[in-house]
Amino acid sequence: MHEKLIILDFGSQTTQLIGRRVRELNMYCEIVPYNKFPHDATGVKGVILSGSPYSVYDANAFKADLSEIRGKYPVLGICYGAQFLAYTSGGNVEPADSREYGRANLSYIDNTDELLKGINVGSQIWMSHGDTITVLPENFKVIASTDDVKAAAYHVEGEQTWGVQFHPEVFHSTDGTKLLNNFLNICGCAKDWTPASFIESTVAELKEQLGDDKVILALSGGVDSSVAAGLLSRAIGKQLTCVFVDHGLLRKNEGDEVEEVFGPNGQFDLNFIRVNAQERYYGKLAGVTEPEKKRKIIGEEFIRVFEEEAKKIGAVDFLVQGTIYPDVVESGLGGESAVIKSHHNVGGLPDYVDFKEIIEPLRNLFKDEVRKAGLELGIPENLVFRQPFPGPGLGIRIIGEVNAEKVRIVQDADYIYRDEVDKAVAAYKAEHGTAPSWMPNQYFAALTNMRSVGVMGDERTYDYAVALRAVNTVDFMTAESAEIPFAVLQTVMSRIINEVRGVNRVFYDLTSKPPGTIEFE
Ligand code: XMP
Repeated sequence: MHEKLIILDFGSQTTQLIGRRVRELNMYCEIVPYNKFPHDATGVKGVILSGSPYSVYDANAFKADLSEIRGKYPVLGICYGAQFLAYTSGGNVEPADSREYGRANLSYIDNTDELLKGINVGSQIWMSHGDTITVLPENFKVIASTDDVKAAAYHVEGEQTWGVQFHPEVFHSTDGTKLLNNFLNICGCAKDWTPASFIESTVAELKEQLGDDKVILALSGGVDSSVAAGLLSRAIGKQLTCVFVDHGLLRKNEGDEVEEVFGPNGQFDLNFIRVNAQERYYGKLAGVTEPEKKRKIIGEEFIRVFEEEAKKIGAVDFLVQGTIYPDVVESGLGGESAVIKSHHNVGGLPDYVDFKEIIEPLRNLFKDEVRKAGLELGIPENLVFRQPFPGPGLGIRIIGEVNAEKVRIVQDADYIYRDEVDKAVAAYKAEHGTAPSWMPNQYFAALTNMRSVGVMGDERTYDYAVALRAVNTVDFMTAESAEIPFAVLQTVMSRIINEVRGVNRVFYDLTSKPPGTIEFE
């Protein structure tokens, strides 16, 4: 049983960030709704109370019963968490003036307090609240202040309970990680949650759970399914069968790269089935131009192909799903049910495969932990750090009808584009030691359905136009077109026109999201 920290979620946007910071400090933690402190608290070393969109005095504010927590475990209240502790102990919380948003600096620090060890006056913090504590209960002692906020941090005397009205979990709180680490030390955490340790414990759990059972996994070549495959291979070897469907809509060489890693000549002990279904897909997609119809065909065909392969294997005990932690965290805002996302690329599969149970080996991991586990398992970096790639693949990057010729064009153009952007990023890093500000979070080429007249040598051409897309985004919900240096774009343009037959024009897409989307269909 791993030691763990419990984060009570009062619905803040940054609750998951608290979890990630704690995990980055090698401490395992679980985020639970504010009113669901686990009955079985084995291994719990401390508790963090998150922020909230509510005010503590709101009629519908989330109220937790802390009687089983305070005094038993070290407690750290963050923002609303701190105000809730103060308010429910007889303090006063009132609407604050607007100065309590954004950056501030600590102008007073009680250096003798364990929570603030190593943090000095001037340290930048990040505030984001509409309320402020105006009166602290008697035994609550101020241990840090800013010019505007007296009770920026407090300690409850005689108790291992602290509150901070700022957000140590956000990047702008420069000593935030130090503060969280101090709290973990107060909790007496061993901090032994490392990629190697979570692989070891997950593999041990999987072995125990699976015994001699057979497991089937839809391998897409994406990070999640690859890491799940690596973990299961380590736990049960050939009891695992990975089915990799090459739908002919992957990026250039990608099918072979996946096979190199997971196929019979790769390093993993598992059964690998590659289905080369290119022709099947192109056949189904022939003459189809409507984006949603294309998506539907690609999704359904995946299920058909997978179903056929699964039938050949016969009944299996478990079907793997690549659910990760952010998909299963129950928000404090939400109702009773956990939000479980069906794996994007295998949506609908459970209805068609003969299996007894679903297994989710990544359900405790944040995305960055999945990547770390991948590296630890020996999955190559290009796979672990690959950019997001949609399930329908190039099918939604080819506007209009999909066919083998168009796939070749978009694959080749995309390959050149990624190659040149990667080289430019690497050169910038070599010179400046950091990534450039324009470093895109997703970048790819798409094939417009437009043909236009050009001239090459002495000949007129009538060929396709390729569109280059690159976006800067944090959450892929909104995005800006990335400012790739013009010289890089020119090199890409010239290489694509010279090297990719069938293309005589290259566009750069400047559209933000919204109103555009990142993909073209
Ligand atoms: P859009 O085009 O909606 O894309 O701005 C946002 C992000 O989602 C990815 N995306 C998909 N991923 N199946 C997926 O697995 C899909 O059908 C799909 N459509 C879009 C897209 O690549 C981007 O990262």
